[in-house]
Amino acid sequence: MSDLEFPQFPPGFAWGVATAAYQIEGAVAEDGRTDSVWDVFCRQPGVIRDGHTGDVADDHYHRWEEDVALMAGLGIDAYRFSIGWPRVQPGGTGKANAAGLDFYDRLTDGLLARGITPMPTLFHWDLPQELEEVGGWLARDTAARFAEFASLTADRLADRIDTWITLNEPFVVMAFGYALGMHAPGKALMLGALPTAHHQLLGHGLATAALRSAGARRVMITNNYSPIWPASGSTADMAAAQAFDALQNRLFTDPVLFGSYPNLSAFDLGPAGLEFVRDGDLEIISAPIDGLGVNYYMPTRVSALPDSPLPFQMEPIDGYPVTAFGWPVIPAGLTELLVRLRDRYGDRLPPVYVTENGCSVADEPGPDGTVDDQFRIGYLDGHIRAVADAISAGVDVRGYLTWSMMDNFEWSEGYHQRFGLVHVDYTTLRRTPKSSYAWYRDVIAAQRGVAAG
Ligand code: BGC
Repeated sequence: MSDLEFPQFPPGFAWGVATAAYQIEGAVAEDGRTDSVWDVFCRQPGVIRDGHTGDVADDHYHRWEEDVALMAGLGIDAYRFSIGWPRVQPGGTGKANAAGLDFYDRLTDGLLARGITPMPTLFHWDLPQELEEVGGWLARDTAARFAEFASLTADRLADRIDTWITLNEPFVVMAFGYALGMHAPGKALMLGALPTAHHQLLGHGLATAALRSAGARRVMITNNYSPIWPASGSTADMAAAQAFDALQNRLFTDPVLFGSYPNLSAFDLGPAGLEFVRDGDLEIISAPIDGLGVNYYMPTRVSALPDSPLPFQMEPIDGYPVTAFGWPVIPAGLTELLVRLRDRYGDRLPPVYVTENGCSVADEPGPDGTVDDQFRIGYLDGHIRAVADAISAGVDVRGYLTWSMMDNFEWSEGYHQRFGLVHVDYTTLRRTPKSSYAWYRDVIAAQRGVAAG
């Protein structure tokens, strides 16, 4: 439990919550929306725990007003949500679907009316299925299609939305979606998935230009970062940690902030190497951005795995409390990675926003109907302090948005992992703010009180 006595965060620091379209909206076949790769993936037997799907999810599509009222009750500054591509541009090509855009228009106005800054992400994994059928992110053309979607969306909303996030966690799309097959679209191509990194980054660059032409004032990209810890001090394990660090932490950041790819010599890319990178691409990808979104959940510990295309393997991290997902709780890892980002990118690092951080807990209402998630309070308390430590160390962190506003569809885990400040009963869809909701509200209020005094 925490005493709310946090260091004072800088003036203008944005407190918020985050969600994503497929994880909360439901209404997958309404108002012209067509399938995303996740709709199709979820229909395959055995890929999602207990066969869960996002068909209904939190029914946020119909209950968004209640959800925005809950956000207003928290006193947040910013809400990060994602815009469903197959809702706005069904099939991923052609003109915008006005009914799909209407939803985000209403949501934007609802947020602004409550004094909450909308912070949309354009791609949180729900690629239109039709685009997957012509190669998905393996196809270069998907980058151009993404920029078109960005343009259609910003044409409608950039008059009211200042800050836009292009991609969410392109590493996870590459690794889980195309290399290992655990996420949609379920391809297990191992290193053959590498072009999806470049095409997503190119999509980010092209979308950045499209957003700016449509009047967007601030553009960011969100990556998931993890401090990579070698399992031992041996040369082999240290090299394995470097290799994994290149893939998870640098592959999606160096091109954006340095205009070059990191050293990938630990991987046997064959004679073709990075042949999918064309002249001029890196200039597009490295166009200036106004913020870097950082998602953090835990560090990663790796050891060497000789004679394998991926020369590392994950090792458990023992000795820490674990979330319901089994993830170790290590707040200092967040300070470590923020300081590392500053050290690596120096002046090229734009202001940083923690765009996701949170934990899953097996929350269920007690006999009195309340959900007392003290574990989550401890988790958030530690991680907010870790952000304060990074700021004290000189890192320019401008916001903290917790994952998640409410329990939702947790990808391969279906509805089994609850990350929300608000409990959702998946039978009645009733929302119950948890103890962490009241705690976070009080943290934000206390920060305002300090700031005002
Ligand atoms: C994703 C979220 C997800 C969360 C917890 C992040 O990787 O952006 O969509 O729910 O982690 O697993």
